[in-house]
Amino acid sequence: MEKKAQFGHPIDDLIARRWSPRAFSEKPVSREAVRSLLEAARWAPSCFNEQPWSFIVATKDEPEAFETLLGCLREANRVWAGRAPVLMVVSAKAAFDHNGKPNRHAGHDVGLAVENLMLQAVAMGMFAHAMAGFDAAKVRETCGVPEGHDPLVAIAVGYPGDPEDLPEDLKERELAPRERKPLESFVFGMSWGEAWNGLRNG
Ligand SMILES: Cc1cc2nc3c(=O)[nH]c(=O)nc-3n(C[C@H](O)[C@H](O)[C@H](O)COP(=O)(O)O)c2cc1C
Repeated sequence: MEKKAQFGHPIDDLIARRWSPRAFSEKPVSREAVRSLLEAARWAPSCFNEQPWSFIVATKDEPEAFETLLGCLREANRVWAGRAPVLMVVSAKAAFDHNGKPNRHAGHDVGLAVENLMLQAVAMGMFAHAMAGFDAAKVRETCGVPEGHDPLVAIAVGYPGDPEDLPEDLKERELAPRERKPLESFVFGMSWGEAWNGLRNG
């Protein structure tokens, strides 16, 4: 299913086509394809090129690992994410390698890596759906995530499925229009809260 952004100004098709479906096909994702997704993440920019991300990956061809990671998701996500053939949890390293000081931008940079992965997924006919709804402490314990690394987000990856396979409430959300705040509400000139005049003129 397509659910393209209804953009107000032209944007690249890849960005317009990315969205967060809950209906995934059970079609497997090859390991080669997963490697490409991770390679895309690898090439994200980061503060001091620290690359503060780590990925835990489980695919359905390793059922035990997959069930373990699925078991770390909140029930509301488990309902749909269990159909996706690939699950990941991405962690952020809290301190810089080069001086041990807190890296205020670690979460930002993990987000860049995840968006790279998501756009690569769209380019390959797949989708990646991020989830905050998971038990980070359980992931830490189960997968041995060391102190200083924070499990930030889980991701379900797979090929698009049929919304008809979702429970009724999720199907409704799947088919609802995608919404965004208008540019005027978050793009300012030198006075916070006043829309940048370039949104209207020139
Ligand atoms: C950090 C983060 C956490 C999210 N957590 C969840 C989640 O736990 N469950 C879920 O169904 N969607 C989750 N989402 C998906 C968002 O709801 C979705 O990206 C947002 O509604 C915009 O929709 P779109 O991605 O289709 O454009 C999350 C997205 C991000 C980036």
